[in-house]
Amino acid sequence: MRAHPASATGPADPTRRPATEAVLLVGGKGTRLRPLTVHTPKPMVPAAGVPFLTHQLARARAAGVEHVVMATSYLAEVFEPYFGDGSALGLHLEYVTETEPLGTGGALRNVAHRLHSAPGEPVLVFNGDILTGLDIGALVATHRTSGADVSLHLTRVEDPRAFGLVPTDPDGRVTAFLEKPQTPEEIVTDQINAGAYVFTRALLDEIPSGRPVSVERETFPGLLAAGAHLHGMVDSTYWLDLGTPEAFVRGSADLVLGRAPSPAVPGRHGERLVLPGAVVADDAKLFGGTSVAAGAVIGSGALVEGSTVLPGARIAPDAVIRDSLIGANAHIGDRTVLVGAVVGDNAVVGPDNELLRGARVWCGAHLAPSSIRFSSDQ
Ligand code: GDD
Ligand code: MG
Repeated sequence: MRAHPASATGPADPTRRPATEAVLLVGGKGTRLRPLTVHTPKPMVPAAGVPFLTHQLARARAAGVEHVVMATSYLAEVFEPYFGDGSALGLHLEYVTETEPLGTGGALRNVAHRLHSAPGEPVLVFNGDILTGLDIGALVATHRTSGADVSLHLTRVEDPRAFGLVPTDPDGRVTAFLEKPQTPEEIVTDQINAGAYVFTRALLDEIPSGRPVSVERETFPGLLAAGAHLHGMVDSTYWLDLGTPEAFVRGSADLVLGRAPSPAVPGRHGERLVLPGAVVADDAKLFGGTSVAAGAVIGSGALVEGSTVLPGARIAPDAVIRDSLIGANAHIGDRTVLVGAVVGDNAVVGPDNELLRGARVWCGAHLAPSSIRFSSDQ
């Protein structure tokens, strides 16, 4: 048999070499997720039984990343006690905390000195609240073959107004970057920044230091104006920004159901994920990707669909919980109905309440029995 060179897509192909370093942006306040984020930064809120960030770290590891620098700010102190040096995940993790929030670009500049990559090497950057099936290796390969300065994962959404709009030319070259468009004229595409980038390392060192910088509002438009090559890779894989309670609950359920890929779900995919140490009555019905954390109790006859029940929460008999998130040690009373609601840590919702879509019960709040209903029946 004749020896032949490695095929263009084979493992010896230099464009398929993984990026070994990543920065995770995890310093945001998670305002839209309150009250979930009152005591816990958004990336540490459990999704499918583990802090959400675990899924991102495990996916990065699976793609060949070895060294991750976490750019922290809001509630920075909770990350390191949980993840430590990262060895449990097969990673080397470091933490850099901003004294004042520096924004997404300022955070990158602030951690750049911890990276070991050479100036021309690719470094991955991830927003800390994205659940996605992105082929990380393909994004790095695209970056290497296009010779871009920065490559961005893009996805298509129906309503792009809450995101960064990123139109590209037929070759995939980014032509503009419009963060959170305000006017109809600005909505020039349905392609948005999906929150994962590959930066050629030298560009991270060039972000101004010592002041807040938005990578979306300042760095990307500035690079484009200066003639830099920004490349977009659009795909239609699973993608969700977990910035709102509705999205967070959806994402957690999709992880449990196996619709969203993660090597870090602590159990088999299916209708429910009940963690060791949870107590579920035999006749309670759990489905739709519901997860029940350690120390939580689900009473007899309760129905829990597509919901996340955090550690120590108690759901009383015959309660009905759909698409909702029940915070740590919260209590939900008998026959209470929650649909699309968020109940903060240590809150008590007494029996016979009915809270529908968008309701947020603050941490530690007490709702007396039969206080709130959305329907006239009792
Ligand atoms: N360290 C640090 N410091 N991190 C920050 C800071 C900061 O000052 N501000 C925000 N972050 C982190 C957040 O924790 C989050 O992981 C990420 O940066 C993005 O911030 P979000 O607040 O979630 O931004 P967004 O969802 O409104 O918009 C961003 O994500 C969209 C995709 O979900 C933008 O990048 C958009 O362009 C993009 O479309
Ligand atoms: Mg976000």
